Amino acid sequence: MTSCPVRGSWTPSAGPRGPVGVLRPAGPVPVPEVAPEVDRGLAEAFVRTYHHEVTGADPTDRLRHVLTELDRTGDYTHTPDEIEWACRVAWRNADRCVGRVYWNALRIRDFRQVADPRQVAETAVEHARVSFNHGRIRPTMTVFAPAAPGTAGPRILNEQLVRYAGDPKYVALRELARDLGWDWDGDGWAVLPLIAHIDGGRPHLLPVPADAAAEVRLEHPHYPWFAELGLRWHALPIITDMRLEAGGKWYLAPFGGWYVETEISARNLADPDRLDMLPEIATLLGLDRTAAWTDWRNAATVVLNQAVLWSFTRDRVRISDHHSEAERFLEHLARESRAGRAAQENVDWSWVNLPSATPTPTYHRYYRHQPDQPLPRLVRFRPPPMLQPVRPSPDHGARRGRRSGPPHPPAPRSPSWTCPRSGSWSGRHCPSWTTPSGWCATSTASSTPSAAPRWSGCSRPT
Ligand code: ARG
Repeated sequence: MTSCPVRGSWTPSAGPRGPVGVLRPAGPVPVPEVAPEVDRGLAEAFVRTYHHEVTGADPTDRLRHVLTELDRTGDYTHTPDEIEWACRVAWRNADRCVGRVYWNALRIRDFRQVADPRQVAETAVEHARVSFNHGRIRPTMTVFAPAAPGTAGPRILNEQLVRYAGDPKYVALRELARDLGWDWDGDGWAVLPLIAHIDGGRPHLLPVPADAAAEVRLEHPHYPWFAELGLRWHALPIITDMRLEAGGKWYLAPFGGWYVETEISARNLADPDRLDMLPEIATLLGLDRTAAWTDWRNAATVVLNQAVLWSFTRDRVRISDHHSEAERFLEHLARESRAGRAAQENVDWSWVNLPSATPTPTYHRYYRHQPDQPLPRLVRFRPPPMLQPVRPSPDHGARRGRRSGPPHPPAPRSPSWTCPRSGSWSGRHCPSWTTPSGWCATSTASSTPSAAPRWSGCSRPT
């Protein structure tokens, strides 16, 4: 038992059989996947491809060095130039990203000497400041220490650096933070603290300071009532939980750039299982929600799109719109083809088309998507297969079909470790890890129907 700085005590998920060995029923921290042995073939292909693309030099010496190191230690070290290239190429290879035309301009912060959870969290917070750059956002990636083979390495449990406590998507994370001692005052707009840990060990909680969580308050230039909704969103999307796989090695590497408006307006604020604002906005627009002809969902989405674009521009925070970004994406594909690289094979239609995409040029066409192309296997991002603590919900079945609204009340503090897809598991190999999304679970979390949430300044429909 290790002592927790905030709460007195906690049960680590590390077990006697190794760093992430045995699942402890009482442990609240998800169990991360461990890095495999470094694949010699991937390491070799990585070095060859790097030299082919970047230096044009003969890779023989470097290869000999890497393979000798691998034979001797079972691992090898990327040079600063190699890791920079890997970060950029991981973005270029990201088949779900529509904003890849800028891949070569990515700024890399090399923090591979950092593995300690407290330093990881602090360095990630600093990432937000550097990347925000007073609103002139710079796409940035921070690389932390790699996971040695057989270990999980440093991890951040939050999906993004800034997320809100009242967002229904993060109920499990919020409750985990509270289990770990975070004192939530019930404000739906409270920014969730960062939770970092290494090898499934003692987690470090770090509140995200306001200057690292820049936000934009949303208004609409034509509708004075819009400001009364009290809506806002964070300026930077910084993904913190994906791993960078490069030449057979795994790194924690938070990254982000600027938003495309529909990510906020047509998903985060709109989805019925997120902030679900469309019905309220449609009503305020005077649209009849019982009549199909009003197409109130689309009408309300357009107003939200406008509000997001207008407000970010008002605050001089860089943002893009889905029309411009779709045009640029086609330019990216053309460039990639000219460079002789697989372009269309590397496009996931369902992701590069953002919501509201029907009038954009990326929509009415096909791509030759072939996941697991050789180059993406060499350098890529992966979502984090982890087991989430699941709190059994006696009325889970009864909740099905109910309209979900943020946020749920505090869940009972008795997490059990179950994979919600497979029902149960033993050891760290959960069958659901093989699912295409790579996610084992999102917690089905709580609980009993809730008291009305306290979204400060925003009256939520109940
Ligand atoms: N869709 C995610 C969100 O709404 C952000 C994903 C990354 N997006 C980006 N523009 N870099 O927060």
